[in-house]
Amino acid sequence: MQKKQELYSGKAKSVFATDDNDYVVLSFRDDTSAFDGEKVEQLSRKGEVNNKFNAFIMQYLSDNGIPTHFEKLLNDTESLVKNMQMMPVECVVRNVASGSLVRRLGVEDGMELTPPVFEFFLKNDALHDPMINEYHIETFGWAKSEDINKMKELTFKVNELLKTLFVDAGMILVDYKLEFGLFNGQVYLGDEFSPDGCRLWDAETRKKLDKDRFRQGLGGVIEAYIEVAQRIGVDI
Ligand code: C5P
Repeated sequence: MQKKQELYSGKAKSVFATDDNDYVVLSFRDDTSAFDGEKVEQLSRKGEVNNKFNAFIMQYLSDNGIPTHFEKLLNDTESLVKNMQMMPVECVVRNVASGSLVRRLGVEDGMELTPPVFEFFLKNDALHDPMINEYHIETFGWAKSEDINKMKELTFKVNELLKTLFVDAGMILVDYKLEFGLFNGQVYLGDEFSPDGCRLWDAETRKKLDKDRFRQGLGGVIEAYIEVAQRIGVDI
């Protein structure tokens, strides 16, 4: 598989074409951003840590029946993935209240959410990723009704699988964001799963082990990502 020209550059990853139109190379950079790209820093080794973390999670989810875009690790910072048509929608599940939910609704940070809360957001930095619902998605053509249902179903299945994985490693999966795409008309999990796109707290101390360390200037960002990776068994 030969890597070719860059197709797209996001805030933390770049996408490169290959000589096979069905596959692209996902390249994880050290760039770390928050607040719709307003705060950006380079964190040494972040690309490598997130690439390996994501590979481990995607493999675990695939092994447990979740269709994902992940094909294989190529090197420390790159993975081969299916070339999907991404849906511009973010699926968020919350097991514990934190972040924007607390700001929006004034509920207590750390409150357990039963049942978990599901939210859709539009992937659009210029509009600050506004919250949307199924009607917006269907009416504006961001995804078809059956694909919306599939995204929801898969996001909840991922919740059960990942809650278990992290609880067994002494952590609470507070919330996370997933993105999906279409490949040959079927819905697959795309983008990445890493501490950049979820909240993970130590089960005992409630220490934050995710991107909130960067957002809130708590320091030790990569050290926390590596700790999470090692606790779940990522070879890093
Ligand atoms: O900011 P908020 O509380 O809505 O985020 C919910 C979850 O989704 C968090 O884990 C956050 O890291 C993730 N998220 C993300 N990318 C965004 C928005 C949220 O990864 N653009």
